[in-house]
Amino acid sequence: GPVQAFIAAVPKAELHIHLEGTLEPEMMLELAARNGLPPPYLSAEAARQAYQFKDLQSFLDLYYNGCAVLLTSQDFYDLAWAYFERAASENVKHIELFFDPQTHLERNVPFSTFLPGILDAVTTAKEKLGLNVRLIMCFLRHMSEESAIETLNQAKPFREHLLGVGLDSSEANRPPSLFKRVYGMAKALGLRLVAHAGEEGPAEYVWEAIKDLGVERVDHGIRSLEDTALVTHLEEQRIGITLCPLSNMRLKVFPDEATAARILGKFILETKLLVMLNSDDPAYFGGYLMDNYLFVQRILSLKVEQVARLAKNSFSASFLSDEERQHYH
Ligand code: ADE
Ligand code: ZN
Repeated sequence: GPVQAFIAAVPKAELHIHLEGTLEPEMMLELAARNGLPPPYLSAEAARQAYQFKDLQSFLDLYYNGCAVLLTSQDFYDLAWAYFERAASENVKHIELFFDPQTHLERNVPFSTFLPGILDAVTTAKEKLGLNVRLIMCFLRHMSEESAIETLNQAKPFREHLLGVGLDSSEANRPPSLFKRVYGMAKALGLRLVAHAGEEGPAEYVWEAIKDLGVERVDHGIRSLEDTALVTHLEEQRIGITLCPLSNMRLKVFPDEATAARILGKFILETKLLVMLNSDDPAYFGGYLMDNYLFVQRILSLKVEQVARLAKNSFSASFLSDEERQHYH
């Protein structure tokens, strides 16, 4: 129909997407074989069968396990390039891409291996696809702030290639305030600040991300709706919230479609919040950016104008300059 065609054609930005979450089972098996590692699953189909999650942690366990096949610069190039081609085919024009250095550093894969692979793919995406990609390095919140600081220090030689820092992984009992010092250090380096908050954790964690960490955009932020003063603050300050509908379905943040429709309806139709749609970890959640738009269009019966606003918001909430924004949208 016309709305679906519009979803495909409208220029979009993607602001919440984890590079490691784009590792499709086929590539996972291919890289395992290429690197002489035992295959993590017997087949791509078996992998997809295993991707049934009861919560965030049950997903993260498989997600980090899958990363074990990523060893060489070429592996990271191939991973990033496959995602960029897919994104470009969906008319994504700008990406602020998350990656998790600690997941690789822990396995003795250094910045000097993974970053050049990712950066080569970014350069090729610009040249061959006209796709603009910037990188946001995420700290793993299940690890210590000391480890995050050490990671930031190791990233310093690559400062010019980084747009910002984020915070991801297990949220329960890991309040943002634990990472106040490292966010202060990142800010002093001129890095932009975002964090996952209010995915499984309470609205209080969204406040902490804003007040203690100084984040300029909130990832997920679903539970913000539980605090009306917070919703007002997010509206007034025009703080972007990166919604990830299929992720929330698959990780049971939404128990069912009716709940998804109720909550997403509040964010998208009933408030003035600066929200847009994102895919989070598409290889694990069964859908890329367009699938997320199609899902939300279906459950909320969105009209073209409402889809257009979400797409426009994706650029408004990005860290593009006003001049760049005009170019891409
Ligand atoms: N890492 C990758 N995806 C994530 C998510 N949805 N929440 C927290 N950490 C993540
Ligand atoms: Zn995420």
